[in-house]
Amino acid sequence: MAQLSSKSVLVLHGPNLNLLGLREPDHYGSDTLESINNQLKQHADDAGIGIDTFQSNHEGELVERIHSLARAPVDFIIINPAAFTHTSVALRDALSAVKIPFIEVHLSNIYARESFRHHSYFSDLAVGVISGLGARGYSLALNYAINTITRA
Ligand code: DQA
Repeated sequence: MAQLSSKSVLVLHGPNLNLLGLREPDHYGSDTLESINNQLKQHADDAGIGIDTFQSNHEGELVERIHSLARAPVDFIIINPAAFTHTSVALRDALSAVKIPFIEVHLSNIYARESFRHHSYFSDLAVGVISGLGARGYSLALNYAINTITRA
C-alpha cells in the first residue's frame, strides 16, 4: 500500500549498527541492518505511513539529521543510539530541542550487561524503552508509533 496519511516516522541507528549480522551475534542477533530496515519499511507501508531510516557512526551527523526535522518534521522517532546511549548529551539535547516523541530501542538487554551500559542519557525523555528483544524491538516500537500517530 502506498503512503495514505501524511504521518511519518524516522528510525535512527547509532554507531556500529551498520555491522549488524557480523557483529557479536550473541548480543545483537544475526539480522543485518538492511533486513531490519526493509521489514520496518514494509510494516510502515502496510500501515500507509511514511518512514525514513538513517544510520551514522558520527555523533554530529545524527545531531544534524535530528536538526533537519525542524524543516521537515516527522510524527515519531525510533532511535537506537547504540554506544551514544551511554555518552551523548549532544544527541539527548537535539531530541529535546525538536520535541518529537521517541522510543529508545536496544537489541540487547543493556541492564544485563556491563555496568557502564546501565545508564542511558535518553530513557527519561523517551515515551518508552525496549531493551533485549532483538530486532523485534524495532517492530514493536513501530507498532506503537503507528497506533499513536494514526489516532492523533
Ligand atoms: C545497543 C547497546 C549498546 O550498549 C551498544 O553500545 C550498542 C548496541 C543495543 O542495541 O543493544 O552498540 O544499543
